Amino acid sequence: MGLRFNILACVLLLVKTEGLFVGITYVGNAVAKGAVCLDGSPPAYHLDEGFGTGINSWLVHFEGGGWCNNVTTCLARKNTRLGSSKQMVTQLAFSGILSNRRQFNPDFYNWNRVKIRYCDGASFTGDVQAVNPATNLHFRGARIFLAVMEDLLAKGMKNAENALLSGCSAGGLAAILHCDNFRALLPMGTKIKCLSDAGYFINVNDVSGAPHIRNFFSQVVSLHGSAKNLPFSCISRLNPALCFFPQYVVQQIRTPLFVLNAAYDSWQIKNILAPSVADPRSTWNDCKVDMNNCSPIQLKTMQDFRLHFLSALYKSANSSSKGLYIDSCYTHCQTETQETWFMADSPMLSKTKIAKAVGDWFYDRIPFKKIDCPYPCNPTCPNNVLNQPYHPEKGPRNGSAATEHLILVKWVFCWLIAVQMGLEWA
Ligand SMILES: *[C@@H]1O[C@H](CO)[C@@H](O)[C@H](O)[C@H]1NC(C)=O
Ligand SMILES: *[C@@H]1O[C@H](CO)[C@@H](O)[C@H](O)[C@H]1NC(C)=O
Ligand SMILES: *[C@@H]1O[C@H](CO)[C@@H](O)[C@H](O)[C@H]1NC(C)=O
Repeated sequence: MGLRFNILACVLLLVKTEGLFVGITYVGNAVAKGAVCLDGSPPAYHLDEGFGTGINSWLVHFEGGGWCNNVTTCLARKNTRLGSSKQMVTQLAFSGILSNRRQFNPDFYNWNRVKIRYCDGASFTGDVQAVNPATNLHFRGARIFLAVMEDLLAKGMKNAENALLSGCSAGGLAAILHCDNFRALLPMGTKIKCLSDAGYFINVNDVSGAPHIRNFFSQVVSLHGSAKNLPFSCISRLNPALCFFPQYVVQQIRTPLFVLNAAYDSWQIKNILAPSVADPRSTWNDCKVDMNNCSPIQLKTMQDFRLHFLSALYKSANSSSKGLYIDSCYTHCQTETQETWFMADSPMLSKTKIAKAVGDWFYDRIPFKKIDCPYPCNPTCPNNVLNQPYHPEKGPRNGSAATEHLILVKWVFCWLIAVQMGLEWA
């Protein structure tokens, strides 16, 4: 009886929770082109091939993970997965928009799905020829973008009928900054669109009144030599440091773009509005973890942040080809996690889940341009508590390694049961 139960538990565990794990591909020939991670190692991506009707459709998704703005912070990430392909896990879980199951990802499940690993520290925009031997830091994100695209084109993307360039956080910003470049690489007849998830970082002062994020982005752009790789329609008008902000770029992007972002983006609240340097007495700490802990004054500050966010967005995202999904959840990145992308109890805006809104917009079934009412009006938001604080600026999480460990534990459990079965039948 116990044994039978264990076998059942084991089968259920493996079938139900073992998501899709996709192996890494290193782009070895990129090294000769100088297209390398911060430490000089080759760039990498994970590709799960399309099938059935999706065989000529391509989803290309940029990984996120903050930025490094000076030699100190770049050296700190150089020997992590965000600076070196030698430190990356070789198997990555694909879920949400990367899932291969129709019930979890109705419009993209059978496409070729690619996740490009992030190891340059400047949203794939950097290009500095010189390498200082004292630090051995390489600032080559823009070359990585090109080298990976060439590799994917050769693997069949040159025949793409549909293509969507997406990404989350710093990767969502990369999807905006490279949107028109991506279109230029693909054939004329391809249906091409871009999706930015939590990549609409706004130019706003922090709670102390200082332009913290503006200074930070300005340092990123200058350290990585990014200016020449930012959209020309922006750098021809404005200071290149500003052209790292979507609000000065998006209006001129010609490829259809969908902006998915929480109006109270938790990363932006924590790192742009109330970064620790602007809050030396840590009065914002409880509020940043859980919106329910915010004082009335802090809530007012967050409501004002939302208004700044919407006003930046209105000025740049009003053309008819653009899609908008601006919910009032306290969150950051909603395409990669199954819970937020497409499940029975996923958040909704106008009774629509994110996967449905994006799919309908991509295939021109229904345009989607919706802005949620202000917090706390949306009952479908998860409880607005961040149980896993995420600080991309401060370095990587060990999430994938932990998941791999869990999978190993499950297999060992099932193997022990198999051994037990063998003994009982012997
Ligand atoms: C580098 O940037 C970090 C983060 O903005 C900052 O705290 C630090 O003081 C900077 N270091 C140098 C040497 O400029
Ligand atoms: C969109 O916004 C721009 C900049 O504010 C403005 O010039 C343009 O007329 C607007 N277009 C529409 C359709 O509202
Ligand atoms: C990640 O793993 C490394 C090495 O196993 C460890 O030193 C580091 O503290 C871990 N970081 C986090 C955030 O758990």
